Amino acid sequence: MRGSHPRSAILGTGSELPSRVITNAALERLVDTSDQWITTRTGIKERRVLEEGKGTADMAYRAAVRALKDAGMEAKDLDAIIMGTVTPDYPFPSSACVLENMLGARKVFSFDVNAACSGFLNALAIADSLVRTGMIRHALVVGSDALSRMLNWKDRTTCILFGDGAGAVVVGPSHDGARGILSTRLRTDGSHVKTLYVPAGGSLKPASAESVRKNEHTIAMNGKEVFKIAVRSMDGISREALDEADVSIDQVSLVIPHQANLRIITALAERLKVPMSKVMVNLDRYGNTSAASVPVALDEARKEGRIQRGDIVLLNAFGAGFAWGAAVIRF
Ligand code: UT7
Repeated sequence: MRGSHPRSAILGTGSELPSRVITNAALERLVDTSDQWITTRTGIKERRVLEEGKGTADMAYRAAVRALKDAGMEAKDLDAIIMGTVTPDYPFPSSACVLENMLGARKVFSFDVNAACSGFLNALAIADSLVRTGMIRHALVVGSDALSRMLNWKDRTTCILFGDGAGAVVVGPSHDGARGILSTRLRTDGSHVKTLYVPAGGSLKPASAESVRKNEHTIAMNGKEVFKIAVRSMDGISREALDEADVSIDQVSLVIPHQANLRIITALAERLKVPMSKVMVNLDRYGNTSAASVPVALDEARKEGRIQRGDIVLLNAFGAGFAWGAAVIRF
């Protein structure tokens, strides 16, 4: 429940997409696939890939600088940095700490959240809670992932889906009681761990010459299973978040769903009874950027003028774990 604490709000947004573009035509040269198959089955036309020698925090840094500028704030104003990522620069410490140092933020605590494609929504919900309890005033919330680093570029069932990117928002106390984050809802179901995962490289099966030879450090997925459960779960959690915010779906101006597959998004829109004109879609250009997907789409929607003051926006995401979530925000 929300309680009587003042609301938190999103005070600024920013995003960063690497400049290197991989088109479907380029993938045709790598695996047995076609632009036609990828387009009709997923809606994706191209994706971005982070250049060699750069990491997740490099993308996060550029997105963060833009979000801070948009909020009219500086890194020294931040109390916390929370980053959703499953592709940190190092196994440890967190990429949030790497980012903290890049930004020169000096009085913060920083940590990563591992909730895969739902990482940004988890990070946002944590920041919202910390601001509302008064523990902090301002948090930088980031979703940044470079899944290109975990792809088997010979596996046509996964390598066509994902791309790299970062999105960031600044969260702080709402200046106007009516505006801000109205609700957040999160959920996981650990019985599906192996439906979408990276089998090796962790403590259970550390990286070895054998694990690399077998490509076990890359993404393994049962796509059909993910598809089915994603639609149902994002529908359910969106309804819960709307109920908690006491908002009807008709009052929502824009839905910003996780950008995994256009067919998942259209099925979700049908279930929610929302016309596609009220749904943000940019996966044709970026593919599935994991934790970055929702904050990148949010930033683009704002830049395109699709979110005006007073508009109510519904965010939702679903990914490995399974982990999923939704948030309702009045801008
Ligand atoms: O954030 C969550 C991350 N994951 C997801 O969101 C994934 C959700 N799932 C999906 O998006 C879809 O299930 C996929 C796009 C992964 C696959 O689409 P599908 O319609 O479920 O296809 P399928 O797996 O049933 O495969 C149909 C056929 C198969 O051939 P056969 O067995 O019918 O002969 C596949 O081998 O398509 C084949 N196929 C491909 N063909 C050309 C699979 N991948 C490709 C490909 N190019 N890239």
